Amino acid sequence: MTKIILGIETSCDETGLALYETAPNLCGRGELAHHVYSQIDLHRQYGGVVPELASRDHINRILPLLNACLNDAQLGKEAIDVIAYTAGPGLLGALLCGASVAQSLAFSLNVPSIAIHHMEGHLLSALLDKTNPPSFPFVALLVSGGHTMLVLVSDIGNYKVLGTTLDDAVGEAFDKTAKLLGLPYPGGPELAKLAEQGNPLAFELPRPMLNRPGLDFSFSGLKTQVRLLIESQPTTAQADIAASFQHAVTETLVKKCARALKETGVKSLLIAGGVGANIALREKLQTLCTKQRTSLHIPPLHLCTDNGLMIAHAAAYRLQSARPPETLFATSKWSLDELTL
Ligand code: KG4
Ligand code: ZN
Repeated sequence: MTKIILGIETSCDETGLALYETAPNLCGRGELAHHVYSQIDLHRQYGGVVPELASRDHINRILPLLNACLNDAQLGKEAIDVIAYTAGPGLLGALLCGASVAQSLAFSLNVPSIAIHHMEGHLLSALLDKTNPPSFPFVALLVSGGHTMLVLVSDIGNYKVLGTTLDDAVGEAFDKTAKLLGLPYPGGPELAKLAEQGNPLAFELPRPMLNRPGLDFSFSGLKTQVRLLIESQPTTAQADIAASFQHAVTETLVKKCARALKETGVKSLLIAGGVGANIALREKLQTLCTKQRTSLHIPPLHLCTDNGLMIAHAAAYRLQSARPPETLFATSKWSLDELTL
């Protein structure tokens, strides 16, 4: 039987809602409606996300976005069979907005709700592409504002974290460096834009953790190096600094991916999360995968950053296993390793 899943994402500064229809056998049929409201303008004046403002804004946006999705899909609320929401990790207040709306709606419509791990949502979003889905096992590089992880994915719900960041997440490093360069929030895409005009080889920056074995990352030292560089260079060098920073980060990520592929013997690589929208990273990973005859799977650009579709889609996979009804659940910290199907 097909099912219509409502996905609700409110873990940080994007309110994302989507309706996703499953196929009778597996998870595909796909997107019926998909809306994201970004709080960029709200937080820009503070230079970063203000958690309390984020929560208040989610509350205002969720129901209008739900109505917009139902309108697009030409459906009434009664058509919803399952409600999936991001339960963590993320900002607790923001998560609770989505979780409580999901639970209340599920209660009033008498349908089940499913708590989804935000990073599993990102991870599985590359499987939305039914023309080129990766086959198991594969290595996933998850790069967002809060996480940097290399994960060995043996199956849905079978995740082994191979490496993670010891300090700043890669998106956080982009955002902080962009701030040092005087760029507006959110810094990642702004820094990437500035980097296009610069020379990536202008300044030699460290490649953190590459000279040590293992698959962990560290980006805070690099950020400090960039700060010293900014202080010592004229403002005319800013595009070169941005390009050199981006080059150092993306090269580090690519080398760690190469190491993970070698250590696991896996021939399939997936990238997901907001920094997966970075064109320089996508191009370098494509070059690596072509050279190593490894298949590369990346969600389309608009699904790299937070959205409700990835949450509904992850729920489609989770629906296949019988699970007890959920009670309201939200947690700011949640390891991907703890998930099972
Ligand atoms: O996955 P996401 O939307 O939210 C979290 O779960 O954190 O990722 C947001 C992060 C931010 O740090 C943002 O600056 C970064 O992804 N980002 C980028 C780009 N687009 C978004 N970083 C580098 N280049 C981009 N094009
Ligand atoms: Zn995210």
